[in-house]
Amino acid sequence: MSTLQGATVLVTGGAGFIGSQLVRELLDREVASLVVVDNFVNGRRENIEERMADPRLTLLEADIRSDVALDALRGIDVVFHLACLGVRHSLHAPRENHEVNATATLELLERARHESVQRFVHVSSSEVFGTAQYAPMDERHPTWPETVYGGAKLAGEAYARAAFRTHGMPTVVVRPFNTYGPRSHFEGDSGEVIPRTIVRVLNELPPLVYGDGEQTRDFMHVRDTARGLAMIAECDEAVGETINFGSGSEISINELARTVASAAGRTEIEPTYLEARPGDVRRLLVDGSHMHDLTGFTPEVSFGDGIEELVAWFQTRPESPEAMLTRIEERNWLVGAGNEESK
Ligand SMILES: NC(=O)c1ccc[n+]([C@@H]2O[C@H](COP(=O)([O-])OP(=O)(O)OC[C@H]3O[C@@H](n4cnc5c(N)ncnc54)[C@H](O)[C@@H]3O)[C@@H](O)[C@H]2O)c1
Repeated sequence: MSTLQGATVLVTGGAGFIGSQLVRELLDREVASLVVVDNFVNGRRENIEERMADPRLTLLEADIRSDVALDALRGIDVVFHLACLGVRHSLHAPRENHEVNATATLELLERARHESVQRFVHVSSSEVFGTAQYAPMDERHPTWPETVYGGAKLAGEAYARAAFRTHGMPTVVVRPFNTYGPRSHFEGDSGEVIPRTIVRVLNELPPLVYGDGEQTRDFMHVRDTARGLAMIAECDEAVGETINFGSGSEISINELARTVASAAGRTEIEPTYLEARPGDVRRLLVDGSHMHDLTGFTPEVSFGDGIEELVAWFQTRPESPEAMLTRIEERNWLVGAGNEESK
């Protein structure tokens, strides 16, 4: 397995933010067929609508915990496993978060092994590390997740490694750091800092910064993320490996706010500072040398260019900035906090 060209591929979470960009990348790489499994809990049909006319693409609306999703693994060469529930969701619904992010990953791995899948790319997250104890963070950095999401992602990646070690199943674990770009979430408890900040600034409102704004993240553009995931699947030496995957540049939330304001032509807007978010990690920065050594990957989209492009993308959405603003939940780690699970 050294090329995706001609392969039968399945992407869980393929209607989500990163998954929908990966779908574009894979179709462009001339896969033979591509099945997207998504239950639309956070993904959207519109994210891949423009590619739905492609006869190679099948959209299976199903929960990854269902038999119909597991049955779809029959005849598949390559699996990219991205479906998951997010970090804020885990703060108010930890059990369901664990069930989808960890238990369902184990079930998928088991079935994929029985179906003799040739490559299983398990998409984990830098959240498995918790706060950086040193930076840049290589693969030996201790994994001390600070949320149930981070813990469940760590369990999922441990199961993927176990499948390789105990059964020789060709799995690879990849830990993206923070990704941004078109189709990223601003709404509800999926809302990420970059799109939320853009929507606020487009409404002429100050960015909201939780804490002092000196917390940092390693932001990579989603086109680079999707390209890198495809490169990992095509790399035979990556089998059995765990790979940290980011841009290698450290951006503070204060710098992010300034970059967005400048890209929107609103340099006079100053952030509003609010109380820090619980469990917010202080620093995240990748050491991307393992990824680079294995695949030759280097990011192509600079942060400034990516933000400029994304601001322009948000400005051309059919939905107005005012309407988008009503779908933003401030303090979105509390969304759903009154539900059954959190009582
Ligand atoms: N966005 C980031 O910055 C980032 C950073 C690190 C890791 N990741 C990882 O990348 C992957 C994709 O993240 P994303 O940002 O695109 O998130 P996303 O929420 O946009 O995508 C996840 C998709 O999974 C689907 N999904 C959730 N539960 C499901 C279920 N039970 N059955 C079927 N489908 C289900 C959702 O509908 C959604 O389309 C995740 O595994 C995430 O942990 C993302």
